[in-house]
Amino acid sequence: MADSTFTFIDLFCGIGGFRIGLEALGGTCVFSCDSNKLCREIYKKNFHDAPKGDIRNVDITGIPDFDILTAGFPCQPFTKLGGQTGFSHKRGSIFEYIIEIAKAKRPKVLFLENVPSLLNTNKGECFKRVKEAIMAIGYSVHFEVINGKYLLPQNRNRLYIVCFQPGIIGASFEFPILPELKRSVRDIMMAHEEIADDYQFLIPTENQVQRRVDFRKQAGKKDGVTLNIDVPSPAIVSSYRKERTQKFVPCERNELGVRYLHYREVARLQGIPEDFQFFCKFAKRPDMFYKCLGNCVMPPVIAAIGCHILKELGLEMNLEKPVMSLLVKATSKKDAAKLHFERN
Ligand SMILES: C[S@@+](CC[C@H](N)C(=O)[O-])C[C@H]1O[C@@H](n2cnc3c(N)ncnc32)[C@H](O)[C@@H]1O
Repeated sequence: MADSTFTFIDLFCGIGGFRIGLEALGGTCVFSCDSNKLCREIYKKNFHDAPKGDIRNVDITGIPDFDILTAGFPCQPFTKLGGQTGFSHKRGSIFEYIIEIAKAKRPKVLFLENVPSLLNTNKGECFKRVKEAIMAIGYSVHFEVINGKYLLPQNRNRLYIVCFQPGIIGASFEFPILPELKRSVRDIMMAHEEIADDYQFLIPTENQVQRRVDFRKQAGKKDGVTLNIDVPSPAIVSSYRKERTQKFVPCERNELGVRYLHYREVARLQGIPEDFQFFCKFAKRPDMFYKCLGNCVMPPVIAAIGCHILKELGLEMNLEKPVMSLLVKATSKKDAAKLHFERN
């Protein structure tokens, strides 16, 4: 590894959340792949680099050498919504490709992300198998559930797994304790003038509202279908537009009094920079972007953990500077101006 730079690969890259976070630390991505065509288009548009497709068709010998393997591996087999079928699910076995690549390329670090329910799928058996598979190829395993709400206004608990090659590093690695910025949905909301052109796809139908009302009634929830915008939002999932558990934001400009979050607002909740371009040459329907956004990792959280990984690799990293720089880039100018680490 030369001076303060490092290389990484971006498996199951989605729209590139890991890449945004690690490039902010001076990293260079040397390989990426995702089976989803829309994600690959958006990724290419933003990073000027075309990811390969399905990992099952990747020729491992063609992957250049690299320091860190990153992967937010497909989580459907592990989420509660996916029924917690774990490794018996067809997509559960995709994890094995990570092991194959690590075995062949021997990177210094594996940096993985998934949903916290991976910890208790099949009574913990699934995570046990993940850990065993990693340890069997000689890596140490460190893991922690971290909530992104400390940096961003979204309650998003995710499981981060950091694995070090033995003999080199890992003994003193610790996950970062994130500073609490106490941000709220209100901080990132766009003014009506900014969303006016997209207004038609932000207004739900009466049926869509009713579905959510019915769901909450049946589930005995008394808190209505609109978000409290003075606190962080609940986690935005990939099915945000369809999911009856998800909430609207208040909007006085239409009879229903609610609207969906704009995809740029969701990008802000996730910590995706304002200059990130959402683009789709297949269909210019902005509601397609929510799915990729709901799957994405939070780049500022990735950068914060990345700083601690790099410290362990012997690179002196100041967490505050790159993380704050990403946060400032991922919101409106007005909100960015009042962001400070000591705001708690
Ligand atoms: C949880 S998302 C990862 C999101 C990504 N980390 C980001 O920041 O946007 C999982 C991704 O795995 C991709 N995927 C699923 N099966 C795959 C396969 N067989 N090969 C490559 N990618 C796959 C999906 O298209 C999806 O984008």
